[in-house]
Amino acid sequence: MCPEPFDQPRTGPAEGRAGGGGPPWWRTAVIYQIYPRSFADGNADGVGDLIGITERLDALAALGVDAVWLCPFYRSPQADAGYDVADYCDVDPLFGTLDDFRALLARAHEIGLRVIVDLVPNHSSSAHPWFEAALAARRGSRERSRYVFRDEPTDWRSVFGGSSWTQVPDGQWYLHTYDASQPDWNWSSPDVVDFFDRVLMFWLDLGVDGFRVDVAHGLVKDAAFPSFPDDPLSVHAKSAAPYWDQDAVHDIYRRWRSLLDRYTALDPSRPRVLCAEANVSVRRAVRYVRRDEMHQAFNFPYLNTPWNAPALRSVIDHTLAEYAAVGAPATWVLSNHDVVRHASRLGYPEGRPPRRGGIGAADPQPDQALGLRRARAATLLMLALPGSAYLYQGEELGLPEHTQMPDSFRQDPNWVRKNYTGSDPSDGPGRDGARVPLPWVSTATAYGFGGFETTWLPQPEIYAAYSRDLQEGVSTSTLELYSSALRLRRRFELAAGEMEWLSPPDASHLEFRRGEVTVTCVIGDEDVVLPDDVEVLATSVLPFSGVAGPDSCVWWRSRGRA
Ligand code: NOJ
Repeated sequence: MCPEPFDQPRTGPAEGRAGGGGPPWWRTAVIYQIYPRSFADGNADGVGDLIGITERLDALAALGVDAVWLCPFYRSPQADAGYDVADYCDVDPLFGTLDDFRALLARAHEIGLRVIVDLVPNHSSSAHPWFEAALAARRGSRERSRYVFRDEPTDWRSVFGGSSWTQVPDGQWYLHTYDASQPDWNWSSPDVVDFFDRVLMFWLDLGVDGFRVDVAHGLVKDAAFPSFPDDPLSVHAKSAAPYWDQDAVHDIYRRWRSLLDRYTALDPSRPRVLCAEANVSVRRAVRYVRRDEMHQAFNFPYLNTPWNAPALRSVIDHTLAEYAAVGAPATWVLSNHDVVRHASRLGYPEGRPPRRGGIGAADPQPDQALGLRRARAATLLMLALPGSAYLYQGEELGLPEHTQMPDSFRQDPNWVRKNYTGSDPSDGPGRDGARVPLPWVSTATAYGFGGFETTWLPQPEIYAAYSRDLQEGVSTSTLELYSSALRLRRRFELAAGEMEWLSPPDASHLEFRRGEVTVTCVIGDEDVVLPDDVEVLATSVLPFSGVAGPDSCVWWRSRGRA
């Protein structure tokens, strides 16, 4: 359990690189998502861990990112890869110890990287002591009031399939928006509110730079518990479900913002930040980043946009306008641990797989070469947009999804709850294909992920060719594309400032100016000839011939301005 916090906030160690003048770091940051199980295995047991991360942090600083976001590493039965937390203030032995975390944080700060940790406030694990106490207590007790218990279930459906209610021996039902092992907290309980204050303060006192807030749109439920039988991931559900995006969630974020601001006030060079994982429309997402709420929100509408120029232009314009209206930076993202990696997603004609929820060996397979070509272009497009960007571990290698994983290895509860029963053929085999251990060294055990051959999810043989060691210093590699793009992004201050469209709205390419840099991204089936005498700063297709072909992106400027 979480210890009592100190009376006063403590600043924690370290001074980050973005202190001093200029916009606060989070407005322009490139944030690298680490999925601890699959980043690096420091103790050779086949599962990634905190020691492994610390050992490899220098590689991320060299890549040029500003911050890392760590997916959950807390004590957990791992029913949903750590998004089922049994102790919010301790490290699961699978990943190491609190001292390992302290060492990670110290090293990150030493080399100028900020550290954001995951906060899971919508639900705990059913192994959390408070849920165990709730089960042991009688109906109507204070212990039960911390979770959502009712005498009758509703028709609400779990995100992972089936009903979102499970009955307990005395006849009551508890709500779980996700797996039955992930009971939802009741945010009208003062105990829960106080508890999460303590969790935040625990990690802030240790010195973290902020939190990525899991299911930020889900914490509050409509107290009338109306009927809602729709699929929770449908477009309709996103705007109408009684368990998504309720107004009262914002009270929680205002409270947390003022708590974080107390820490920031102690050391203004280290603003502490909140980022919402709110899977809602852009118009609704910006409500989470009003001035007294969170700092950032993920841009899922951008991630979900197909490979189509007018559609991309429209989501970019809409995003920039809506975020500007609330004074928050836009964010951009192409991949994460819940979606098909963009190097594979874009290998389908429309830029999206035939069915949602992962790719199985029996599904139509993506065109890997097309996917990688487009992924490189999509990344250059994204990194030229104003605001902050999120990268998912491995995308800097051009890493594809593992699309041939034998079903027997799969662990995603999404797959276990739905497809084991074959109940929903429109849904894929789950998210494991995006979560496979990274390849670092092509010839080493587990491709350099760690010293144990059998990794927790199997690595496909094709990963050898994507290994980091084969890409370092190779000018045509995806790794070098990322690191030069990040360098140029900083040099030309692309994360701040205005954006001016040069291409017409209905064109099948996108062209815009960011200060002295022009970005030409060809999506459709055409060539765009660049003016003579330009200086090419970055290009997704090498060698560059002066013509931007289909599925390519170029950053350039006139030689006269060089
Ligand atoms: C969103 C996380 O990204 C995902 O991995 C998890 O399964 C759900 N939230 C539930 O915590």
